[in-house]
Amino acid sequence: MLSWLYRSLVRPVLFSQDPEFVHNITVKGLQGVSSLGLLSKVMHGVCSSPELPVSLLGLKFPNPIGLAAGMDKAGVAMRAWEAMGFGFSELGAVTWYAQPGNPPPRVFRAVPAEAIVNRMGFNNDGAAAMADRLKRYRDKGCWPSHPVGINLGKSKITELIDAPLDYLRSFTLLRELGDFFVINVSSPNTPNLRKLQDKESLKAIFSRLQAFNNKRGRSPKPILLKIAPDLSDEALEDIVDMIPKLEIAGIVATNTTITRPETENQKVKKVYAQQGGLSGKPLKVRSTEVIEFFYRKTRGMVPIIGVGGIFTAEDAWEKITHGASLLQIFTSLVYGGPLKVKEINMGLKRLMEENGFKMLHEAVGSAIKK
Ligand SMILES: Cc1cc2nc3c(=O)[nH]c(=O)nc-3n(C[C@H](O)[C@H](O)[C@H](O)COP(=O)(O)O)c2cc1C
Repeated sequence: MLSWLYRSLVRPVLFSQDPEFVHNITVKGLQGVSSLGLLSKVMHGVCSSPELPVSLLGLKFPNPIGLAAGMDKAGVAMRAWEAMGFGFSELGAVTWYAQPGNPPPRVFRAVPAEAIVNRMGFNNDGAAAMADRLKRYRDKGCWPSHPVGINLGKSKITELIDAPLDYLRSFTLLRELGDFFVINVSSPNTPNLRKLQDKESLKAIFSRLQAFNNKRGRSPKPILLKIAPDLSDEALEDIVDMIPKLEIAGIVATNTTITRPETENQKVKKVYAQQGGLSGKPLKVRSTEVIEFFYRKTRGMVPIIGVGGIFTAEDAWEKITHGASLLQIFTSLVYGGPLKVKEINMGLKRLMEENGFKMLHEAVGSAIKK
């Protein structure tokens, strides 16, 4: 009923406005919810997800559905994501230097395709500002109880050769404030960033990060790698090779795509002509292919967070049974509203029962013949 209300009453009003403007006021509103304990409780009462526990990366997740990077770039609405039923959230992307991102307009909805094209370009106020903000939340007792990840990007002004230091600086400041970290070398909106997905660049970045991460006397934080869906099998294979060497704790598959599917719809065509990364329904199949590729090649030994075009419990189930242990959503939240998380988790619970699984991890990779 509430989902229907969102789609038929709220969404038309929101979709009559500029996408980035709507994004900003929504996050602002959720920041308010986050800072008021009572509002968080009310939201939790309406949106709370059923328990579907997952233990992974040395962390306990109350359910497998997480908030994807890019929604809360500044980390201002942490408690609201938990109240919305998410099992974890990924803040950022944050870069070492504060930067404005690309000039607007830079987010476009392709409504008939249930997709978004964006070229935000890592707009954020920098790692130091984020560290201060997160420390304040922690000190005020506003920290959510679910795991919080931080997505690290490269500053636009930093040359590719200096990328390892750029990532290291952000990681050094934020290490104590995140439960896990995601190295983002896959956004299509920072010039040449995706070149950092090659073997030598990954080696240079991860060896710097792990040297700091593994310093004596502290337990290392899981550092995952987020990859593009547009990589060839050879490039994906190269990444598989590097996982144990670079102690990559897991793979986030995938970021947005620079490819565009065929379409006859003129409105969709116009949006697809925009430069940027495409997310939502058209990404679903490719992102699952990449998940399956990694699951097969690593024999299920490496945790995979599946993201890309998850709109329903069936979409989520497909990604889990093809190898993902955790999932994230972004675009379906925009199209489906805040009850999306609960809806997917309830559906997953039903699918588990129907398929005879007691715990979610038993279903991971179950559709793949070994
Ligand atoms: C407006 C927008 C901004 C995004 N910003 C980031 C980002 O800063 N870092 C990142 O790793 N991914 C970012 N993403 C990609 C999402 O995290 C996710 O990988 C992608 O949208 C696919 O999931 P979806 O189909 O559920 O949206 C962004 C996506 C959108 C639509």
